[in-house]
Amino acid sequence: MKTFLKIFYWFLIVIALIQFIPVDRTNKPVDQKINFVTVFQTPNNVQEILKKACYDCHSNETVYPKYAYVAPISWSIKHHINKGREHLNFSEWGTYNQDLKKSMLDNSVKSIKGYVMPMPGYIAQHPEANLTKAERVLLVNYFEEILKSGSY
Ligand code: HEC
Repeated sequence: MKTFLKIFYWFLIVIALIQFIPVDRTNKPVDQKINFVTVFQTPNNVQEILKKACYDCHSNETVYPKYAYVAPISWSIKHHINKGREHLNFSEWGTYNQDLKKSMLDNSVKSIKGYVMPMPGYIAQHPEANLTKAERVLLVNYFEEILKSGSY
């Protein structure tokens, strides 16, 4: 019992101490010239879906939930955001070359259709990101239209 208590105290101390390790939650400012929704003048209903389902990980307009302030959960969340932005950042769309833009549009269509995106773990914490079938169709059609137009 004594050893158990000792381990438990140390555990609490470690949890308390790791709260002081800083996590950078500042969003880079969004440059409208390269921002996806501004470039394409995305209709509001599509923008709303993107914002509630994709933006927390794929834009510079991340909204951090309360639990994102508690280490080590905050580290895991920041890791996902970094990874998501690295792969696809709608706020920095204009910096991509044509090939990358095409593959991002293609992959978005595939991942929305295949229920890979938004990430299931994220949906569990964000019910509004649990897109209805109609919302998925709307988003897929929107990306496909841009693909078909060839001007991206
Ligand atoms: C909780 C964070 C999160 C959310 C929300 C999210 N994604 Fe992702 N997304 C990621 C991560 C992390 C990766 C990288 C996946 C990997 O490494 O396997 C990724 C990868 C992708 C890719 C693949 C990029 C590539 O390099 O091929 C696409 C496309 C994508 N996401 C689109 C979307 C779309 C569209 C939405 C909204 C409908 C969305 N994602 C919502 C985290 C997220």
